[in-house]
Amino acid sequence: MFGSDFWEKERARIAGFQTVGGTGALRIGGAFLKEEWNRPIFISSPTWPNHRGVFRGCKLDVHFYPYYDLQNSLFEKENAFAFFRRLERGSIVVLHGSCHNPTGWDFTQEEWQKLVSLFAEKECVPFIDSAYLGFGKELEEDAYGIRAFAASGLDFLVAFSASKIFSLYGERVGALFIGTSKASVAENVASRVQQAIRMEYSNPPIHGSTIVSFILSNAALHKKWERELNEMRKTMEHMRQKFALRLEKELPKQSFIHVKEGKGMFTCLKLTQEEIQRLQNEYAIYMTRDARINLSGLHAENLDTVVQAIAAVSKN
Ligand SMILES: Cc1ncc(COP(=O)(O)O)c(C=O)c1O
Repeated sequence: MFGSDFWEKERARIAGFQTVGGTGALRIGGAFLKEEWNRPIFISSPTWPNHRGVFRGCKLDVHFYPYYDLQNSLFEKENAFAFFRRLERGSIVVLHGSCHNPTGWDFTQEEWQKLVSLFAEKECVPFIDSAYLGFGKELEEDAYGIRAFAASGLDFLVAFSASKIFSLYGERVGALFIGTSKASVAENVASRVQQAIRMEYSNPPIHGSTIVSFILSNAALHKKWERELNEMRKTMEHMRQKFALRLEKELPKQSFIHVKEGKGMFTCLKLTQEEIQRLQNEYAIYMTRDARINLSGLHAENLDTVVQAIAAVSKN
């Protein structure tokens, strides 16, 4: 995530903790922020619904920032930046490291650099949620935002999930990283967070984390895992393109650029509640109410059925 050069030189100023999945990292990070910082926290609109629940559960004051207009399928990045510029000094902002859930639309490298400068100026604290590292682009590219903040020397948090990228969902493997400006601060942070974890659930499960650690510390297995991760990403990307092309063919009046250019497992379709309900009742095709679908649920045998059903319920 941080890159081996950075890790060798700078690891002392990063406090790291094994957590109960990515959700556990968000929860422990949220509790730490409540205790030590207690400023409003901003999550994207829309976002993975659990963000709101987890941070509210930490008793943080949770608000949304504009990110993506679901009705018009538009990435509202200018609005997001304008909103960040107006933020109260010291606010906490949750950013998706890559493959934004649910939209699949991410900041570019240039925009991440702008975020670093802006957050430095406003003393904002980024909490980067990284649940799909390597699902959008190559690992290093997907880690760009995290690395940009880590290199800046600013304070930051990262919630990492191994659930999808190691296919270990049920094992609950994750990590929380809290980046600080110097080693002595990281040591204090580590001691506080370790105490909190001890009181919350004592120890995280050991089985899944041993698998991840075994793979990552063996050069041959590490390479194999990276190769398989790349294959997974390409399969999803291929299906995304095929799905968009088939939709364009069936519904020529609509644009599916938002499907085509998104990254990762998810995309949000432009469907009304009534259309979503019809897909469910008449075609047994299920999705969340924001019309989010998981592209890895599509394959050669069901693609046509799904596209035809979407076309049948769509009004134009
Ligand atoms: C954006 C985001 N963050 C965090 C998580 C949680 O990851 P985990 O399953 O490891 O708790 C998910 C899982 O769906 C997610 O989509």
